[in-house]
Amino acid sequence: MSQPEIRHATVDEILPLRSEVLRGGGPLERALLPGDREGLGVHWGAWVDGRLAACGSLYEVTDEEGHRSTQLRGMATAPDLRNGGIGGALLEAAIAEWEATPNPVAPLWCNARIRAVPFYTRHRFNKIGEPFDFPGVGEHLKMIYIGEPA
Ligand SMILES: CC(C)(COP(=O)(O)OP(=O)(O)OC[C@H]1O[C@@H](n2cnc3c(N)ncnc32)[C@H](O)[C@@H]1OP(=O)(O)O)[C@@H](O)C(=O)NCCC(=O)NCCS
Repeated sequence: MSQPEIRHATVDEILPLRSEVLRGGGPLERALLPGDREGLGVHWGAWVDGRLAACGSLYEVTDEEGHRSTQLRGMATAPDLRNGGIGGALLEAAIAEWEATPNPVAPLWCNARIRAVPFYTRHRFNKIGEPFDFPGVGEHLKMIYIGEPA
């Protein structure tokens, strides 16, 4: 397998993979996330031998109290290409660009599926709060990017 090519992607490039991995297939529109059609997310893709192997997206969001932050969503690697470091490399590329932005909208966080918590921990995210349920998807934990270990 050659080295993945990791670069910004369009929503339409990543939607089929996101749909397959995170929505179990079905109509592609079901895999759209808020802001996708308004051009609001920064989408990343990792291509291996011309095939999209992994994707993930960063969205600037505002909570009910008006606090802005950056949410990582839609992390997905094709099942047959998992555990090869591709998702991790894509996540590191997205973090590096976010950190290099002047005044990045912090914190960077995600709602992690329980199964994926070790993956985010390895990439310097800390768990916060208690697990909660996303109906139909399962238990999640909120995780916040803490940067380099002290
Ligand atoms: C999470 C995911 C994007 C990681 O992509 P990847 O290319 O396999 O990532 P890497 O090879 O860099 O890292 C592998 C690590 O991912 C985690 N992982 C492996 N399979 C996984 C799975 N089915 N679901 C979630 N995490 C998984 C493990 O922590 C693994 O490391 P470990 O075996 O040492 O524990 C990928 O496993 C995936 O698409 N999972 C299904 C969808 C998902 O859970 N997305 C995250 C939503 S919060």
